[in-house]
Amino acid sequence: MADENLDIDALLEENRVVDPPEGFTANALIQDDSVYRDADADFEAFWASQAQRLTWSRPWESVLEWTPPWVKWFAGGRLNISVNCLDRHLVANADRIAYYWEGEPGEQRAITYQDLYRDVCRFANALRALGVSKGDRVGIYMGMVPELPVAMLACARLGAVHSVIFGGFSADAVRDRMIDAEAKVLVTQDGGWRRGAQVPLKDNIDRALEGAPSVKSVVVVRRTGQDVGWVEGRDAWYHDLVAAQPDACDPEEMDAEDPLYILYTSGTTGKPKGILHTTGGYLVGVATTHRLIFDIHPESDVYWCAADIGWVTGHSYIVYGPLANGTTSVLYEGAPDFPDKDRWWSMIERYRATILYTAPTAIRSFMKWGTEYPAKHDLSSLRLLGTVGEPINPEAWMWYWEFIGGELCPVVDTWWQTETGMILITPLPGITRLKPGSGTKPFPGVVADIFDENGKSVGPNTGGSLVLKRPWPAMSRTIWGDRDRYVQQYFSRFGPSVYLTGDGAKRDDDGYFWLLGRIDDVMNVAGHRLSTFEIESALVDHPAVAEAAVVSRADETVGEAIVAYVTLKASEHGDEALIADLREHVAEKIGKIARPHGIILTDDLPKTRSGKIMRRLLRDVANGRTLGDVTTLANADVVDQIRTLAASAPAEE
Ligand code: WTA
Repeated sequence: MADENLDIDALLEENRVVDPPEGFTANALIQDDSVYRDADADFEAFWASQAQRLTWSRPWESVLEWTPPWVKWFAGGRLNISVNCLDRHLVANADRIAYYWEGEPGEQRAITYQDLYRDVCRFANALRALGVSKGDRVGIYMGMVPELPVAMLACARLGAVHSVIFGGFSADAVRDRMIDAEAKVLVTQDGGWRRGAQVPLKDNIDRALEGAPSVKSVVVVRRTGQDVGWVEGRDAWYHDLVAAQPDACDPEEMDAEDPLYILYTSGTTGKPKGILHTTGGYLVGVATTHRLIFDIHPESDVYWCAADIGWVTGHSYIVYGPLANGTTSVLYEGAPDFPDKDRWWSMIERYRATILYTAPTAIRSFMKWGTEYPAKHDLSSLRLLGTVGEPINPEAWMWYWEFIGGELCPVVDTWWQTETGMILITPLPGITRLKPGSGTKPFPGVVADIFDENGKSVGPNTGGSLVLKRPWPAMSRTIWGDRDRYVQQYFSRFGPSVYLTGDGAKRDDDGYFWLLGRIDDVMNVAGHRLSTFEIESALVDHPAVAEAAVVSRADETVGEAIVAYVTLKASEHGDEALIADLREHVAEKIGKIARPHGIILTDDLPKTRSGKIMRRLLRDVANGRTLGDVTTLANADVVDQIRTLAASAPAEE
C-alpha cells in the first residue's frame, strides 16, 4: 500500500459519555491513572515489573533490544509457557476450574487446572512419541473442544510451534497452510458440531494432506462418532495415543524469543501470511492486558471470551492470557442460535459468568434477533463486557451496555490485531470514562499516533492512518519464512521504527481514539475521503436498522457514489418510505455529502469466517464486477441474494 492515500475526513460526532459504575471502581485492580504515568515514565520498567508475575527458569538479561524494525524482549530469559499456564497454579489452586466446557448438543464438563495439567502432559508425551520435538511445527484443525487448548499447551510444553487453522476453513486452506509451515503432525477431530450438523473435519484433512507431504502423522479426537477414512501408518486416535502415557512430562526450557505459534491471517490475496509469535514477550503482553483490561479476580470471576480459538482472540484471550492468570473460563463449542437464539444467555445464567468478551458482529446479530432473548435469562452475574474485531457502531455499543449489561457493566472496546498479539487501545474499566464507539486510549506503555499522507501527526478530529511508535512485548516478530514481506507490509511506509496498522482513525479533543475501519475501505466521494464505518454507524443509529455495510460504486458525476446494504431488525418492515427516511437520517447525522445514493435492504451481509463485513465483495457487486477472492467468505448464499437484489433495485436518486 506504499502509494496509497491515507487521509480520511472524519464526520461522525458521538457525544455520549458513560462513567465507570461506582461499585465497579471500588473493587477494580486499577483505581487511578498512576499506571499510565508510571508506564510513560519508563515503559521498559513497567513491562519488566509485569514480567515478574510470571515464572522464569532463568532471568532475562535485557528487557528490550530494539534494532528497528526488529525487537527482542526479555533476551536471555528462559521459561516454559505451559508451566506458567498450569504447573504453577497447582500448588494452591489445583482444584480451581480452568474451563467450564459445554458441547453444542449439551454435554457439560468442568475441567480443573489439575485435570488440564494431566491432559496436557499426557498429550505432550504422545506427541513426543510421534517424534515431535522443539521447533517442529504441529498443525491443529479442530472445533472448540477441550482437546484444542490441550493440544496447543502440549506443543508449548515441548517447544513445538503450533499452527491452529480455524475449523471452518476448507481443505485447500488447510493444505496451503500446512505446506507453508512444513508441519510434521496434524491434530484434528472426526467431526465437529455446528448448528446441529456434523462438520467433516477429518474428511477435509484427508483431502488437504494429498498435497502436503511434510505431515507424517494425523491425530484424531473422537467427537461426533461419524465414520471417517483412515490411512494406516499415518492416522491414530487421540484416546489410543494418550492411554498409556504418564501424567507428567518434563517441560522444554524455552528462550524468551523462541517461537510459540504461527497463525495465518487472510492476506488479501495469494500466499497465506503466517504471523509468528514468540514466547516471553507474548506471554507477558497477553497476561498483563488480560488481567488489567478484564479486571481479573481469579478467585471469583467466571470469564467468557466467546471467540473461536482458531483466531488470535482465542489464542491470547481464551488460552494463554486467562490460563497464565489462573482464570476460570467458559468454553462453548457451537453456534449462538442453537437450539435457540438465547443459547449464550442461558449459559451466562448457568455458569454465573461475570465477564463476556465478544465481537460487534455477534452483538449486531443479537440486536437483529431482539431483546426478548436476553430478557428471558438472569444476566445479573455479569460485571464487565468487552468487544473486539471491528469498530463497534455506537448504537450497538449502547444496546450491549443496556440490554446485556443492564447499564451496570463497563464495556471495554479493545483494538488490536493478529500481528499485535495483544490489546493495544482500550479502556481500563475501573477508571476510563467511556464513549460509545471509541477504543479510548492506548494501553499503558503503548504509543499510538495518527499520521497523514506525509507521516505528520494529525490534529484532533482529523482522520488519518493509525501507527504505533514504540515496541510492545507481544508484537509479532516476523511473517513465517518471509522477513522481507514483514518489513514491506508493516515497517516501510513510515520507516522501520513506525508500525503501520492499515487502519484509519481519528482522535477527539480529549485524545480518545476512534477507529474508522481499514484504510482500504475508505471512499472518495466528490473530493471527500469518507470512512464507510461512519456512514454505517449513522445507519445503525436509526431505530429500524440492525446492521449496515457501505461501499462505493464508480460514478461519472461524483467520482464514487455511496451504496448501502442494510439489514433491518427482525421486528421491522422495509419499504420505499423507510429507505427515504434512512437516507435523510444519514444526511442529518453526518452531512449531505454522506447521504447514500442507493440503499439495498438485505437479510444478511457477506462476512469473513471471523465475522468481519467483507466490503470488498459488496464493492464488486455494486460495480458489476466479477467477485474477487472468496476463500474467506463464510456465507456465500448471501452474496447471491445481494446480487439479485442489486440487479432489481429501484433507480437511485
Ligand atoms: C479490526 C482481531 C476497531 C481492525 C483481534 C484491525 C477493530 C483488525 C477492533 C484486526 C476494535 C479489531 N475497533 N477495529 N476494537 N478490533 N479491529 O487480525 O481493522 O482478526 O486491524 O485481529 O480488526 O483483525 P484480526
